[in-house]
Amino acid sequence: MQSYPRVVRPPADAIGTLALIVGVIAALIFIGVEAALVYAIWRYRASRNLAGEAATFERNRRLEIAWTAAPALILAVVFVLTLGTMAEINGAGVAPAMRIAAVGHQWWWEFGYAGTKTANELHIPVDTPIDLELTSVDVIHSFWVPELGPKMDMLPGTTNRLRLFARRAGSYDGACAEVCGVEHAWMRIRVVVQSQVEFDRWLSAQALPAAAQGGDGERVFLSNICVNCHTIRGTAATGTAGPDLTHVGARATIGAGVLPNDVARMRAWLADPQRYKPGSLMPRVPLSNSDLDALAAYLVSLK
Ligand code: CUA
Repeated sequence: MQSYPRVVRPPADAIGTLALIVGVIAALIFIGVEAALVYAIWRYRASRNLAGEAATFERNRRLEIAWTAAPALILAVVFVLTLGTMAEINGAGVAPAMRIAAVGHQWWWEFGYAGTKTANELHIPVDTPIDLELTSVDVIHSFWVPELGPKMDMLPGTTNRLRLFARRAGSYDGACAEVCGVEHAWMRIRVVVQSQVEFDRWLSAQALPAAAQGGDGERVFLSNICVNCHTIRGTAATGTAGPDLTHVGARATIGAGVLPNDVARMRAWLADPQRYKPGSLMPRVPLSNSDLDALAAYLVSLK
């Protein structure tokens, strides 16, 4: 396992440090200006300064230069610090350990790893710089997981890059940050940050095809329109319009966050997706109660 220099830190840390520096500069200016104001009020109040007119500073070249140069200098410093921070959070100088393709869809996320695809739940290893390569197949979406870094737009026909670096293992939630249609609000992201060992185990499990079961649920899936939109690797289902379901049972939620993932909720979702996510492209497929039971159990079993 490659180790990364200590200069690598989460983008949010870099942004936080910059905000602190700029805040301190602003506070010092505030204190200086207010102190000068209070001093001027005290020093030049009328009772101490009865005689004569107030002094004027017309055409004082030194002062003019000073109060032009000082703000310009301060702004230049802030500008340079900002450029440095932008370069850092874009991953300047540190190659990513892995690139993951992230594709925005109305209204779900597709994450492509070498050899496998998943949806809505992004797994990454801890303490490792990862580059997301972001694009969209329909409208403009925006990938945003606040604890891990800035927002980045997902644009059809263009690939944007976003560096992710997480210091702590755990689960980080995010959402689409660009209004993208009726279900924009239910376009949630979950980033699961794992130790390298756990991540490797997860990725190799994801890379496996689904075990053929030959059961009722599998039969229902393969003999209905499910296969037009969804892939389950290891079966004849190779649709690509909707999320890859090869390991759908391993995900925490259904429908990019609308429901927790268990057999009862999966059944409710399959029975009437439009009730939970109105406008979503997942249609209601007329199925008998026993077919729904079998299909829900089958999908949740795809770990
Ligand atoms: Cu996708 Cu909002």
